[in-house]
Amino acid sequence: MGFALLGSILILTLFLKSNLGQQQEQLIPNTDEFFISSFFEKMGRNSSSSHVFNLSSSVCSWQFVFCDAKQQNVIGLVAPNLGLTGPIPDNTIGKLKNLQILDLNSNQITDFSSDFWSLVSLKTLNLSNNKFSVNLPSNIDNFESLEKLDLSFNNFSGSLPDSFDSLPSLQVLNLNRNQFESIVPLGIIRCHSLISIDFSMNSFHGSLPDGFDTAFPKLKSLNLAGNGIRGRGSDFSKMVSLTYLNISKNLFTGAVVEIFKGPLEVVDLSSNHFEGHISQVNFSSSFDWSRLVHLDLSDNQISGMFFSNLSQAHNLKHLNLAKNRFSKQSFIHIDELHNLEYLNLSKTNLINRIGDGISKLNHLKTLDLSSNHLSGKLPLLSFKTLQNLDLSNNNLTGDIPLSLLQKLPWMERFNFSYNNLTLCDSEFSLETLQTAFIGSSNGCPIAANPTLFRRKIHRHRGLKLALGLAITLICLLVGLLLCAFGCRKKTRMWDVKQESYTEKCAISGPFSFRTDSTTWVADVKIASLVPVVIFEKPLLNFTFSDLLSATSNFDRDTLLAEGQFGPVYRGVLGGGVHVAIKVLVHGSTMTDQEAATELEYLGRIKHPNLVPLMGYCLAGEQRIAIYDYMENGNLHNLLYDLPLGVQVTEDWSTDTWEETETDENGIQNVGSEALLITWRFRHKIALGTARALAFLHHGCSPPIIHRDVKASSVYLDYNLEPRLSDFGLAKIFGNGVSDETGRGSTGYSPPEATVSPKSDVYGFGVILLELITGKKPVGDEYPDEDNLKATGLVDWVRGLVRMNHGSIAIDPKMRGVGDEGQMVEGLKIGYLCTADVPAKRPSMQQVVGLLKDIEPK
Ligand SMILES: *[C@@H]1O[C@H](CO)[C@@H](O)[C@H](O)[C@H]1NC(C)=O
Ligand SMILES: *[C@@H]1O[C@H](CO)[C@@H](O)[C@H](O)[C@H]1NC(C)=O
Ligand SMILES: *[C@@H]1O[C@H](CO)[C@@H](O)[C@H](O)[C@H]1NC(C)=O
Ligand SMILES: *[C@@H]1O[C@H](CO)[C@@H](O)[C@H](O)[C@H]1NC(C)=O
Ligand SMILES: *[C@@H]1O[C@H](CO)[C@@H](O)[C@H](O)[C@H]1NC(C)=O
Ligand SMILES: *[C@@H]1O[C@H](CO)[C@@H](O)[C@H](O)[C@H]1NC(C)=O
Ligand SMILES: *[C@@H]1O[C@H](CO)[C@@H](O)[C@H](O)[C@H]1NC(C)=O
Ligand SMILES: *[C@@H]1O[C@H](CO)[C@@H](O)[C@H](O)[C@H]1NC(C)=O
Ligand SMILES: *[C@@H]1O[C@H](CO)[C@@H](O)[C@H](O)[C@H]1NC(C)=O
Ligand SMILES: *[C@@H]1O[C@H](CO)[C@@H](O)[C@H](O)[C@H]1NC(C)=O
Ligand SMILES: *[C@@H]1O[C@H](CO)[C@@H](O)[C@H](O)[C@H]1NC(C)=O
Repeated sequence: MGFALLGSILILTLFLKSNLGQQQEQLIPNTDEFFISSFFEKMGRNSSSSHVFNLSSSVCSWQFVFCDAKQQNVIGLVAPNLGLTGPIPDNTIGKLKNLQILDLNSNQITDFSSDFWSLVSLKTLNLSNNKFSVNLPSNIDNFESLEKLDLSFNNFSGSLPDSFDSLPSLQVLNLNRNQFESIVPLGIIRCHSLISIDFSMNSFHGSLPDGFDTAFPKLKSLNLAGNGIRGRGSDFSKMVSLTYLNISKNLFTGAVVEIFKGPLEVVDLSSNHFEGHISQVNFSSSFDWSRLVHLDLSDNQISGMFFSNLSQAHNLKHLNLAKNRFSKQSFIHIDELHNLEYLNLSKTNLINRIGDGISKLNHLKTLDLSSNHLSGKLPLLSFKTLQNLDLSNNNLTGDIPLSLLQKLPWMERFNFSYNNLTLCDSEFSLETLQTAFIGSSNGCPIAANPTLFRRKIHRHRGLKLALGLAITLICLLVGLLLCAFGCRKKTRMWDVKQESYTEKCAISGPFSFRTDSTTWVADVKIASLVPVVIFEKPLLNFTFSDLLSATSNFDRDTLLAEGQFGPVYRGVLGGGVHVAIKVLVHGSTMTDQEAATELEYLGRIKHPNLVPLMGYCLAGEQRIAIYDYMENGNLHNLLYDLPLGVQVTEDWSTDTWEETETDENGIQNVGSEALLITWRFRHKIALGTARALAFLHHGCSPPIIHRDVKASSVYLDYNLEPRLSDFGLAKIFGNGVSDETGRGSTGYSPPEATVSPKSDVYGFGVILLELITGKKPVGDEYPDEDNLKATGLVDWVRGLVRMNHGSIAIDPKMRGVGDEGQMVEGLKIGYLCTADVPAKRPSMQQVVGLLKDIEPK
């Protein structure tokens, strides 16, 4: 029983096996299933490809296989990227006699089978990106119905068979990137249906066969690039349907004239031997320049001047004229080519300035103007899209604008080398500086970059805090000690400064002080316990009591001014440090810590035209800012012949502080009035102030808006250099944008309510007008010409400038001591700055440029 069962199973198994074997033998002859499955079995290194084919279902349902409508014959096999490797074996796909589409692209196939050429129904053959490294047999002429042949990215070699003449239906022929050598066979001109020919990146040589230019009435795309083909432009002049022509890197000669015919959109003639005057191109012919999208004439021998008709090519996205033999010429007019994304005019003999039209190219990604003779300043560029900028090897001068520098880290590539440019930035790596800025000089007016300061603040904040604490503690200890000893004796061991502590111990608050218009209170119990932070000299243990004694308890006699934020006193700290002490009356929502951080930040902003913040003191509710004292007063006082707000040297002896040296230590206001009658000096003040604002707006991140630009904020230092004061205070001492302190002072505030860098530009414009006219912004006499009825300086000057009568407004004191033309130009700059609409005002950076243009020599 058990035996019988075992026996029957055995028999069954044998039966099944033989049955299967029979089935397999039946498969061998003439079934598409078999040809295809054995093709994949033999070529498929991918074990994965085997389970794709389910032998128990119909071949027409297999992946990669396409059958005709009746599901009887396989007509398509599309099997890309399956790792099929080696030569195609006989008795596989070569037997698919109905096959019309065979696409085996991106495999590792190396050779054809001998029966491959019997695929007589083939219409599309795509063997692109395989490893064929054989000659293409002339059997190709068996494929009489062939429409598309793609053998690109292989290693076919030898000559192209002439048997192409029997492929009358061929529309697409792609042989790109092979090793075909020989001349282009004559047979090809029988392929009258060709729409696209790509022979690029082979080693074809010789000239194109006779009749090539007329053989293909439907040809749209012709790529012969990267061969050694000889010929002339006229070889293509009869190709009436051509939209794409690429003959880059060949040996074509003669003029390019005849090429520009028909509906061409892409023309790449680069790296040939084309020559002759480009102006010969006879564009009065019917060529439609507006169709052109891509034009590359680079690396030829073309001479002459650029053709003017180029400006009609307003759909052009890519223009490369680099490396030719053009005559010396000014920058081309490209304003109308507003779709340009790529512009390469390297080595085109350009002279003079870079045309302003360049700033209108809003889509520009690549700009290469290297190796020309361009001079003048850098143009404005649209940065939105710019990725690649090469201005190297020119004769450009001036600063690299900060606005541009800030964009560079986001670009792929840039090169400013071998110009006469100045650069102010330390953010770039040494390597970048040594490759992309070769030969640029350092035009950095400041010690370093504000963004670096920020990082430093972060790093040292802990340290600062600790230091502050330590100072406070030491103060406390010293104070306690001294008080404990009852302030009884002055010990000889202690130096003068410390001696003062003994006296200050007695001083206790709260302290209440009056100016002419306000009273303020510093809620400080013991003045000597409130530290004064002096940035550069952290070891000077100044305290609030030192400020008290330096100003004789903020005596009205030491009052320099009542500024917008509060009174300003002058004083001399121990060690003869002459300072201006600004008490900020307005409260702010900032915590002490935030205010300290902000003040530390402001203390690190240094520019030759800014009054440096030396230190600060947080005294109860009050924030006190300590500035370098500006010996020569402010511009307002200087201009209107007021006293400088400071006593002359002799009077210093009458002051109440005893310890101060009575030497002249920096007090020097002699000569500034005399100087002020010259245009040169007034221009210097204007330019310095503009530089300071440009630095705050463009050199600081985030930009600092001054919010109170006026003549009395502009000081003159020991060397009569203009220096802007009070920058950054609005944030700390005002209550934000809506606060009236944010709106600026009378006569200087712009019509708009919102605060922006352009409000500072307005204020600056008023100062500039004051400098040139010698008149106050409001309440002065504005001579009534032509019934202008001016309400203020701005109104008056703008009216005169508009009528071209600017010269009437010039300060009579300056007449004859300067170039009146420059002064009139200066008024025009003031006119621009005081435009009603903020957007119409130039940026401070532009103002600096404009002022430099009228600099007295
Ligand atoms: C093969 O096809 C048959 C019929 O379509 C189906 O029942 C079977 O599950 C398939 N096998 C695999 C492994 O996909
Ligand atoms: C076959 O192998 C190639 C790599 O040789 C791989 O890229 C491809 O995805 C594989 N195909 C399948 C169907 O697994
Ligand atoms: C051949 O296949 C490649 C890769 O998919 C494709 O880019 C190319 O257009 C195909 N050629 C033809 C003539 O269809
Ligand atoms: C292409 O074929 C040449 C010989 O014809 C051979 O030297 C070369 O290595 C091949 N290149 C590749 C990528 O197969
Ligand atoms: C011209 O053909 C070469 C080689 O195939 C290619 O690198 C280049 O990008 C082509 N030019 C254009 C404009 O298509
Ligand atoms: C340009 O073409 C016009 C007519 O199409 C012809 O009269 C003129 O001579 C041509 N000029 C040049 C320089 O070929
Ligand atoms: C080419 O430019 C010239 C001069 O700028 C002009 O007279 C001519 O009409 C332009 N040709 C075409 C086809 O517009
Ligand atoms: C500009 O054209 C020249 C010559 O063809 C080429 O060497 C250079 O790389 C091009 N510049 C850019 C930025 O593409
Ligand atoms: C650069 O400009 C200066 C003065 O404008 C001139 O002397 C010099 O020859 C120019 N250099 C080049 C390379 O054009
Ligand atoms: C660079 O520019 C400065 C002035 O901007 C000029 O004096 C100098 O001669 C220039 N140097 C060169 C090499 O052109
Ligand atoms: C910039 O151009 C100079 C001169 O052509 C070259 O030496 C340098 O390597 C270039 N730098 C970069 C970053 O491309």
